[in-house]
Amino acid sequence: MSKEELKRAAAAQALAYVENGMQLGLGTGSTAKHFVELLGERVRDGLRVIGVPTSEVTRADAERCGVPLTTLDEIDHLDLTVDGADEIDPSLNLIKGGGGALLREKIVAAASARMVVISDDSKWVDTLGRFPLPVEVIPFGLGATRHALAAAFAQAGVGGEISLRQGKDGHAFVTDGGHWIVDAHLGRIPDPPRLASLLSAIPGVVEHGLFIGLAKTVILAGSQGLRIVD
Ligand code: 5RP
Repeated sequence: MSKEELKRAAAAQALAYVENGMQLGLGTGSTAKHFVELLGERVRDGLRVIGVPTSEVTRADAERCGVPLTTLDEIDHLDLTVDGADEIDPSLNLIKGGGGALLREKIVAAASARMVVISDDSKWVDTLGRFPLPVEVIPFGLGATRHALAAAFAQAGVGGEISLRQGKDGHAFVTDGGHWIVDAHLGRIPDPPRLASLLSAIPGVVEHGLFIGLAKTVILAGSQGLRIVD
């Protein structure tokens, strides 16, 4: 199976968690896009759900697929969020934000009774950190924020390059919230919860891509089939 087929298989399995009448968080990325497309097929067959997209890209995909949408202003909680991830460890801690949607993804996941992560099995790691950790920052005071980030990484015993993410136009990548993203090349994060608290304490950090204790279930698709971890 190709990687795309594996992602689609994980997304298809996640439909088993969807029930009529549910309020759903819709993730961002190529794997979550498969889920939105498959959900759209079920909606056309009569399934009644309403979704909150985690990005403008997912909003457009969901509209194209006919999935009814709402916002977390109109409703205040969700039954289930289905989203992808960049890395997943055995405690179900995640790195997310490769697609730049980590802020809305975390708000939506935190508002959900359950978060199901869908992925091909290449994202499963013993220790988080090989994937550069995305940190969403306010453009104002970037130098000071980078300095504070480096200090937090030193305190957490991790180190590495911090780079400002570039968009396709060669300028800073701008998130749906109007912020920038720095990617921290850490290699290994031995204590993700500790690093998460250190990053959350930095004033210029809007949010970081460590998702601690949010994922309840992971569906991994590999060449041997599907593996469900929860
Ligand atoms: C976007 C994300 C994505 O879920 C993550 O990057 C995985 O994407 P893909 O399914 O394309 O590999 O966190 O911000």
